[in-house]
Amino acid sequence: MRTWGGRFEAGPDPAAADFTRSLEIDIELALDDIAGSIAHAHGLGRAGLLSDAEVETLTGGLEGLRGAVVDGTIDWDPTLEDVHMNLEAALEARVGPVARKLHTGRSRNDQVATDLRLWARRTIDALDDAAVGLERALVDLALRHPEAVMPGHTHVQPAQPVLVAHHLLAYVEMLERDRARLADARRRANVSPLGAGAIAGAGFPLDREATAAELGFEGLTRNSIDASGDRDFVVETLAAVAIAMAHLSRLAEELVWWSSPRFGFVRLADAFSTGSSMLPNKRNPDVAELVRGRAAGVIGRLTAALAMVKGLPLGYQRDLQEDKAPLFEAARTLRTSLEVLAGAVASLTVHEARMRAAAEEGHTTAVAVADALVERGVAFRAAHHVAGRLVRAAEAAAVELASLDDGAFAAALAESDDPVASELAADPAIGATLRAAATVEGALARCDVVGGTAPDRVHAELARAARRLGLG
Ligand code: ARG
Repeated sequence: MRTWGGRFEAGPDPAAADFTRSLEIDIELALDDIAGSIAHAHGLGRAGLLSDAEVETLTGGLEGLRGAVVDGTIDWDPTLEDVHMNLEAALEARVGPVARKLHTGRSRNDQVATDLRLWARRTIDALDDAAVGLERALVDLALRHPEAVMPGHTHVQPAQPVLVAHHLLAYVEMLERDRARLADARRRANVSPLGAGAIAGAGFPLDREATAAELGFEGLTRNSIDASGDRDFVVETLAAVAIAMAHLSRLAEELVWWSSPRFGFVRLADAFSTGSSMLPNKRNPDVAELVRGRAAGVIGRLTAALAMVKGLPLGYQRDLQEDKAPLFEAARTLRTSLEVLAGAVASLTVHEARMRAAAEEGHTTAVAVADALVERGVAFRAAHHVAGRLVRAAEAAAVELASLDDGAFAAALAESDDPVASELAADPAIGATLRAAATVEGALARCDVVGGTAPDRVHAELARAARRLGLG
């Protein structure tokens, strides 16, 4: 066991060492740590703190370490507490004592902040790809069923008919916002803290711009105290991840319902369904259920990170080490959830006839009938009332609105206290007009606003999304 330098006489207590070690978790930063160290070695060279030959030896050794990390041939030493100490020791084993110069003008505080920002940047890029993958699966499904209709629900009660494509595109909108939130978090994460040192700034005139440029950062942190002690880029990324998981959880919830025989809207392929150990008949949507279940853990991780930072004074505190497990785990959960849902959505068989039948149940076109009356001069409140009476009449006759006869329409209008409505009762064409409005097609066509479910609107949005995603 190493001691912490000349100040200490004894090494740490084994239980204390175990307790403080983060290697198992921050091993995930190994490649970012190496990239940061290579840039730092170049910076030390530029500042005249290392000779060209030393820079070459160090960067050559670090490149070798990168290969060993990628190949999995590195011997991680659990007696060294974190990935930074491990890589420094491994470098020394490779290139000798010159490795001891690498930590000049650097603290693990700015080092870990650099690593984690690099990690956040590349992980957000991977999440973005995975989100696009799910968007593609949704849009592709919509393209395969462009005319399919389903009941739109509010309060889980049938509300109005909508195109299935419209419903699927709602998730695409959500995913686009998720991508934008992640991109925004990435933008703020993408600045270099290297050179902040432990808290006050490096004690050498390092060219921070040059190292930042080498690492692809878009700028520099402007305050060393903030740079070494700030983790809001972690919290922000976690927040974006948690919101995205909440969206996926809603999609998962719908897949669970839709694939239930009670709904019978879709069938998940065998590859995305699970059997039961006891019940031979079962065909369970476990994948969707686990996405929904894991969203809970991600929300917890966001909460953990926020609670971890809220009481900290400025400057690095060891509490900050606890940012990594929640961040890594949440990002992994989001990525795998996006990928598995993309597969599940792509595998769906859509039962259009069943969805259509459901869209016709529950008098979902009642407001379209009211709107048609408004077009004939009836005040909306009165029109709403007449349509409500028609729903009652349809319910009593156990038929849908579009099947009511002329007499039923005339009767409901005649009893209205709205003079325009009661006059309309005498119009011999009114029954046909309202029956047409009461069809699913009539109701859909009416919602002809930007963002509405009128087929032309939806098809234009679908084409736009497909173009953006390079489909169809
Ligand atoms: N393992 C530490 C972390 O993840 C690295 C920084 C340690 N810094 C320190 N002053 N002890 O936060």
